[in-house]
Amino acid sequence: MKVGFGCDHTGIELKQLLMEHLKEKGYECVDYGAFDAAEGKVDYPVPGRKVGEAVASGEVEKGVLVCGTGIGISLAANKVKGIRAAVCSEPVSASLATRHNNANIISVGARIVGPEMAKAIVDAFFDSTFEGGRHAKRVQMIMDIEEN
Ligand code: RB5
Repeated sequence: MKVGFGCDHTGIELKQLLMEHLKEKGYECVDYGAFDAAEGKVDYPVPGRKVGEAVASGEVEKGVLVCGTGIGISLAANKVKGIRAAVCSEPVSASLATRHNNANIISVGARIVGPEMAKAIVDAFFDSTFEGGRHAKRVQMIMDIEEN
């Protein structure tokens, strides 16, 4: 699976770690920045939108976002049509974000979770499968909001 990664200046280190982690598991990882803390601060709406658009266009299948809390960058991504970005601080919610909400982006806070928890969150998100059924109807109701 091809996965897009994005972060602001607070998330560079954790994003890198999560990319390496998923590469080791065989995922193809595409980095949409931020790339280097020395380049200064990167406002989270920029990478949030980039990764959202990459997922929505099919350039990558899913996305991983990191900012200080995971909140701002996910809010930006969720403004892109077709995006369902979930902020998670533990693996149970991350698994349910896939199983029930068919989320296509997982977002974590570099100032909220440690590296091992972040890896467990990302693993739970990618190792789960959308269950469809009654959840499909609800997810469709969310997507209908974009149309009306
Ligand atoms: C940046 O200081 C911080 O506001 C950002 O990383 C994020 O936590 C916003 O939601």
